Amino acid sequence: MKLLIDDANIEKIKKIYEYYAIDGVTTNPSIIAKNGKKPYETLKEIREFIGKEAELHVQVVSSTAEEMIKEGKKIVEELGENTYVKIPTVPEGLKAMKQLSKEGYKITATAIYTPIQAYLAAKAGADYAAPYVNRIDNLGTNGIEVTRKIHDIFENNGLKTQILAASFKNSLQVLELCEYGVGASTVAPDIIEGFINNPNISSAVEVFTEDFEGLCGKGKTMLNCD
Ligand code: G3P
Repeated sequence: MKLLIDDANIEKIKKIYEYYAIDGVTTNPSIIAKNGKKPYETLKEIREFIGKEAELHVQVVSSTAEEMIKEGKKIVEELGENTYVKIPTVPEGLKAMKQLSKEGYKITATAIYTPIQAYLAAKAGADYAAPYVNRIDNLGTNGIEVTRKIHDIFENNGLKTQILAASFKNSLQVLELCEYGVGASTVAPDIIEGFINNPNISSAVEVFTEDFEGLCGKGKTMLNCD
């Protein structure tokens, strides 16, 4: 399962990249708005930092297929070829996906709440389908189950579309999809940091240090213990 950052704040992105192996960054209009700067300023800064090989997912805002197609092309022109055009999975979005995928653009079908939406997006040529795990949970349906069902629909029908699961509230949701082997998950920085924020892990490591220093002296390591 690929792991992406669901945020547009460059400082947070840099911090996560420093410690963890990350495959790219996803954004949506709300995430970009939260960052406060102009959209292309934010996105170009992210692209420059993550490099041209990494995945960057950027959402269109228009409501008609014709405008979504124009927006998608502009997004890729500005941000490079490993940029995925995120398109909401509504009828106009599906129409835009069909056209853009035919022209070779990379597509992420977003705002997915149901398996049938994901199936339609896959048929329209989307590379990724993004179910909103936690938002589905909040509707009283199990977001993990919906995502697994989508994964099975793709596999059982020989559809090449991958899952890019989004909208997580906790590590367990991410872990369950990792166990199931979905294509990718995009996760907010604070949840990624929480993956291994565990006092048992820290105290185990502290005991190793204390034991070693007890033998060799304070501050000693395998570099200078002779
Ligand atoms: O892009 C979709 C995803 O970021 C939504 O996440 O946390 O707003 O439900 P959230």
